[in-house]
Amino acid sequence: MPQLFILFFFFFFFILFISFSKADPLQDFCVADLTLPQSPAGYSCKNVSQVTVDDFVFTGFRNPRNNSNTNMASLTPAFVAQWPALNGLGIAAVYAELAPGGQVPIHSHPGGTELIVVIEGTVIAGFISSSNKAYTKKVDTFEAMIFPQGLLHFQVNTGSVKAKYVVSFSSSNPGVQTTSMSLFGNDLPSEILEKVSSIDVVEVKKLKAMFGGTN
Ligand SMILES: *[C@@H]1O[C@H](CO)[C@@H](O)[C@H](O)[C@H]1NC(C)=O
Ligand SMILES: *[C@@H]1O[C@H](CO)[C@@H](O)[C@H](O)[C@H]1NC(C)=O
Repeated sequence: MPQLFILFFFFFFFILFISFSKADPLQDFCVADLTLPQSPAGYSCKNVSQVTVDDFVFTGFRNPRNNSNTNMASLTPAFVAQWPALNGLGIAAVYAELAPGGQVPIHSHPGGTELIVVIEGTVIAGFISSSNKAYTKKVDTFEAMIFPQGLLHFQVNTGSVKAKYVVSFSSSNPGVQTTSMSLFGNDLPSEILEKVSSIDVVEVKKLKAMFGGTN
């Protein structure tokens, strides 16, 4: 029993040490070393002697964009995986373009609140609160909207010109779960899915075929 206690004691302090070594508020920054595994406290820091100004500048938004997909949307993420300097700073970005008729399907970010600033065109955007109330509005050029952390939300371009907007998050790794894809792109047996969704099994199988699910 005392051995178990000592083991637990050391394990606790080891975890404490790990978390403090990763999220030390006294260091200016902790550019992620993506070659090392991620812990709940974030990535390990790249050796400061190897960090340059280029770590703090993201050029990925200049990459060619392509709207030729079923959503008619191009989303360029700058999360910690694409921009390691964001590690531990609680912030991330996306640059989005929606062709006329394009959309970002309903989804949620478990890890962060989202803010969009429309810089060209307009989008219909909205979110659904946990009491199932929809908050939706046409967001014009130079208007902004927020989507509180974890809530389902979407954007649609119903205009006749391309919509462009900049997105930011209150997390360097907000995560994303796309609702229809999660519900019907999985391998959960259709009979179970019928039970837990109250959607008829025939319809479940149809939706599974549509979203690439199996079983
Ligand atoms: C960081 O890099 C410097 C210079 O290459 C090296 O002397 C130092 O040991 C490294 N520190 C760590 C923690 O690896
Ligand atoms: C855009 O993406 C589509 C679908 O993946 C592809 O067929 C097409 O060649 C791409 N266009 C360009 C310009 O890269």
